[in-house]
Amino acid sequence: MAENGDSKQSVWGTPFKRFATDAIHAGQEPEQWKSMMVVPPITPSTTYKQYSPGEHTGYEYSRSGNPSRVVLEQCVAALDGAKHALAFASGLAATLTLIHTLKSGDHVVSTDDVYGGTNRYFSKIASKFGLEFSFVDFTDMKNVKAALKPNTKMVWVETPSNPTMKVTDIQAVSDVIRQQGGIKLVVDNTFMSAYFQRPLLFGADVVLYSATKYMNGHSDVVMGLLSTNDEEMYKQLAFLQYATGPVPSPFDCYLVNRGLKTLAVRMEQHQKNAIAVAKFLESNPRVTKVKYPGSESHPHHHVIKKQATGCSGMIGFWMQGNLENCKNFFTHLKVFTLAESLGGYESLAEHPAIMTHASVPPDQREKLGISDTFVRLSVGLENVEDLIADLDQALTAALPKDSY
Ligand SMILES: Cc1ncc(COP(=O)(O)O)c(C=O)c1O
Repeated sequence: MAENGDSKQSVWGTPFKRFATDAIHAGQEPEQWKSMMVVPPITPSTTYKQYSPGEHTGYEYSRSGNPSRVVLEQCVAALDGAKHALAFASGLAATLTLIHTLKSGDHVVSTDDVYGGTNRYFSKIASKFGLEFSFVDFTDMKNVKAALKPNTKMVWVETPSNPTMKVTDIQAVSDVIRQQGGIKLVVDNTFMSAYFQRPLLFGADVVLYSATKYMNGHSDVVMGLLSTNDEEMYKQLAFLQYATGPVPSPFDCYLVNRGLKTLAVRMEQHQKNAIAVAKFLESNPRVTKVKYPGSESHPHHHVIKKQATGCSGMIGFWMQGNLENCKNFFTHLKVFTLAESLGGYESLAEHPAIMTHASVPPDQREKLGISDTFVRLSVGLENVEDLIADLDQALTAALPKDSY
């Protein structure tokens, strides 16, 4: 266990010690630069002078290492309570690098409602190379147990899941798969960020982020991150990062490193705003169901409380009416922007069935509840009364009185 030793209590875990301090200082020491600059530089050089052949400062070529990237990776490792972190050109680049640690014939068990792009990569690309995937509902450990095979080498958890906000008990999955042995547990922590959840504390081998979301938080960088305490896994992933080349640019590393400096305050405000928005939606007659894991009404609220210190700004809800009503809702929004992605300072709303999860086969979408009237919100940092007023007017316009 890391510093937050009481994170398994039944109330929200206490915030991770030193989080905001590490976000600002870990890996950023001015002494590492000759000029003692306080803000780490953007280092675009692709190559580095060597003293004599093979004798160098540790940097040779920017695909294998770049100072802007290393600064970011050290900071992320500190925030995850990990020994190592690696940055990639996108969340999906981090995903496929992890899958590259497997070989043909290996089997992966994944959360059934993973992000649509992860599902597409598993089902349509990685499966062509002899890897086998099973998608199961991780809210019941019986399903996880039943899905394991002798050739299972990786278990892929996304919690809360995108978009239906199912919560998986990370420790319970870890306990189940340790009985078989030889299986790596990956947790996609994109929806929580390192601020609210440290999956390595609960038995995860690797933590993954689409840093495009909360970790950067400004909707201006596409990036992926991996953290691990597993030395062997780290060596493999660092080799793959170098040998296959999906690295982020130094400028993007600079931006994400900058974004991390405000992660703690951003996440606190995302949470505050989301709690108020969820309450509003729960009491609105035009809304049939709300899924916000930070709310007591969520069926797995007790699970998320056990393993997290709070909850982000992601909310799923189903409205009354049909697809037309739902489309009208989106077009009437004025403060929320109808757009894909999440985790930025601005509030976004999207229609998973048509947008982010269109690549999930219709029968699977149906089973998961990704229906025509399902809406995903990323609650941003605007004044919350403006957000609520915006949702209220758009719902009223989409579903006039007596129409539902
Ligand atoms: C939960 C989750 N994981 C992974 C990804 C993929 O990340 P990226 O878009 O940065 O490639 C996304 C993207 O939306 C996501 O929401």
